[in-house]
Amino acid sequence: MSSQRIPLPREELRTLTQYGQRPPGDAIRLNANEWPDPTPAARYLSEQELERLMLNRYPGPAIELRRILAEQYGVRPEQLSFGNGSNDAILSLFLTFGGHGRTTLLFRPTYELHGRLTVLAGGTVASEMVGLPYRLTKDRALAATERERPAIVVFCTPNNPTGTVIDDDVMLAVAERFPETLILVDEAYSDISGRTLLPVLADHPNLVISKTLSKVHAAAGLRLGILVMHPALAESIRAIQVGFNVSVVSYALAAKIARDEAAVRARVEQVRSERERVFRALARTEGIEVFPSEANFLLFRIGGDTAAAHGRFLDQGLLIRDMTPWKGCEGCLRVSIGTPEENDRFITALATVFAAAPA
Ligand SMILES: Cc1ncc(COP(=O)(O)O)c(C=O)c1O
Repeated sequence: MSSQRIPLPREELRTLTQYGQRPPGDAIRLNANEWPDPTPAARYLSEQELERLMLNRYPGPAIELRRILAEQYGVRPEQLSFGNGSNDAILSLFLTFGGHGRTTLLFRPTYELHGRLTVLAGGTVASEMVGLPYRLTKDRALAATERERPAIVVFCTPNNPTGTVIDDDVMLAVAERFPETLILVDEAYSDISGRTLLPVLADHPNLVISKTLSKVHAAAGLRLGILVMHPALAESIRAIQVGFNVSVVSYALAAKIARDEAAVRARVEQVRSERERVFRALARTEGIEVFPSEANFLLFRIGGDTAAAHGRFLDQGLLIRDMTPWKGCEGCLRVSIGTPEENDRFITALATVFAAAPA
């Protein structure tokens, strides 16, 4: 069978493996920065509303969701573009403005999917290794952009996996110095940090801000991502996009979830205080360096064998993330903030996982 000839993916895609695979089992999931409490769909759509939701028609322009989000973001409805999760929305952006012969600049360690999406779109990744602790200065960001002359620069703030916020100055300096470069600011966790570039979007036509309902909106399973940008950029994406990438059911649920701002505020409060508790426990653990975070996860460096430590957490019923495969995160693990009970479990497990090896 080995000699069988079958079609192969493009050369640059052949080493990729499936993203986001979850090991089987019922471990507590603190590996994907999801919201830990269940969000039943029935909380947001009544039986009568479902009766009125017609599946025989293709989705329309999501007028209701557009209106709600445009108001919250302080933009016009036509400045929004939706995707089946923000990953999908960002892929559309990269297909439009990146791709063959074009480069995307990343400041690593950062969300590896930005690199993967660049390659999927046919583009090339360039990176500036900021390292840990993750402090990106204006000079460094400008010099790297000058060196690489990328079509796209990505800033992730708060940055996954470090949880660090990037100064507005740094991102805006790059946007201003390179007006023909598209600047993507991934704000997946910005509700938690309370910092956003939305108020200055109108002054920077090359700025695109991505948002998602997957984090403190507690709806990762819904798959609804949003890009906010200058209307001309949104028009360019619409021109290339394969239509109907989000279902009528997702649009209807998303409109209800987006409107529930009180729930988001309460979750942000909870995550901030729980993160503090987990941070202190990690900081007390010998041999661990934990990095301060403004998101719903914490990165910590153990220096040693992260795969083995990851396995010991799994033995304690806890699934966290081994970050060694991410460039610039060697020797690190990342834990998402869970429910208070789940965080207790994690804190208790620390002593066992990092117990000194018997002499
Ligand atoms: C920085 C960042 N952007 C985007 C996403 C993906 O979000 P979505 O579920 O909207 O595709 C994640 C998810 O972990 C993320 O960490």
